[in-house]
Amino acid sequence: MRVQFHETLVNLAAHPLVWGMARLARRVGPVWKVPGLGVLISDAECAREILRRDDEFTKNGPGSFAQGMTVGLGPMALSNMDGAEHRQLRAAIADLLTPARADVLLDNRADDVALMCSRLSRGECVDLVHFVRGWSGRLAFELLGIAPPVGREEEASQEIVRLSERMASMLGFSRPSKRQIRIAQADREQIAAYFRDGYEQPAPAMSLSGRMQTLGFTFEQAISLLVMFVMAGTLTTGAALPRIVALLADSGSFGQLAANPALIPQATDEGLRYVTPLPGTVRVVKHDTEVQGHKLAADSRLVILTCNLARDAKLFTDPDRFDITRSHNPRAKRSWYGAGPHRCAGLNLAQRQLHAALSAMISAVPNVRIVKRRVAFGALLPAYAHLVVQAVDR
Ligand code: HEM
Repeated sequence: MRVQFHETLVNLAAHPLVWGMARLARRVGPVWKVPGLGVLISDAECAREILRRDDEFTKNGPGSFAQGMTVGLGPMALSNMDGAEHRQLRAAIADLLTPARADVLLDNRADDVALMCSRLSRGECVDLVHFVRGWSGRLAFELLGIAPPVGREEEASQEIVRLSERMASMLGFSRPSKRQIRIAQADREQIAAYFRDGYEQPAPAMSLSGRMQTLGFTFEQAISLLVMFVMAGTLTTGAALPRIVALLADSGSFGQLAANPALIPQATDEGLRYVTPLPGTVRVVKHDTEVQGHKLAADSRLVILTCNLARDAKLFTDPDRFDITRSHNPRAKRSWYGAGPHRCAGLNLAQRQLHAALSAMISAVPNVRIVKRRVAFGALLPAYAHLVVQAVDR
């Protein structure tokens, strides 16, 4: 009950109307056409087929998120690209996003986690939202291969995340206003300012900036992709980690996990299934077509409700129950990371980041209690604005 109550508050604070529609869509059926919003897809198999047929269901088109992204970030942000151009760019950076590279990045920032855990083990209160923003921001600088300004590392890391959050809140189902566009573009410029000088120098070969330089991209061409990685890399895990820790605390499973660390991979999967950090994504139907017997008209906006796919009762028994001992159905294929050519590019980093944080926390303290929490209003990704935790003995 407690788990569902707090998760509902987090989702309602972010998207009161769409969250309500998404809950209703689970009852209505796998495919539900809602005038003014689009065709809501709640069935996991159906969604996977749509996401994999990317030549027929595109990112760009009338009413897509990609259009807003292009206005705010620029044309080559990966997530707003389609077809061969998208595949080529994904392939060109694939070796920077392997599990081994994720381990290197995390090793470079291992002190951040150690410091947070030592504060917890000393009995101090830790705001996990603040911690994960700083940590993910620093990881974003590492991934890009550009150092934050000396002496202002933490401040700069927090700032690129804060600006990313504000830019992301512009992306939604309605067209952004002129004012929102102006703010988003100014935010993008502020983020870009952290990377501009660094990009003038040769960046490490195994970094995103280094790769974009090798591919011959000017800074103005590369910046959409760089900012996309900052946004996607910081907002997702930034939303996920505090929510998962809150779930563990609210359900009484933190102590269970601390007593049995072998459950970390399962707890991470279950946590991500339950919170589904990116609750939905959009595709546009190119031509009249059919998916699993459902007719879809050209130019329709498809709203793939990732949050519902992860609770598809055909794949998960009692899907609204949070259970860290749940064995996940392999057919679900971690649908919270998407599917097909646009499947999350940062999956390896995200998985390892969450494993690293959870295992460090359970090694440091046997249990935590939530001292204070506040949900984030109007965020693109449902999240806590603050989640302050403290160690308890059992
Ligand atoms: C738990 C954390 C994460 C979740 C649940 C998640 C989820 C997703 C999903 C569902 C998509 C596909 C969206 C679509 O098909 O429209 C996606 C795409 C993407 N993600 Fe993640 N993500 C996470 C972490 C990360 C991290 C840490 C990074 C960067 C280091 C990242 C970078 C990206 C990028 C660049 C894309 C666009 C890929 C493309 O369009 O080809 N993500 N993510």
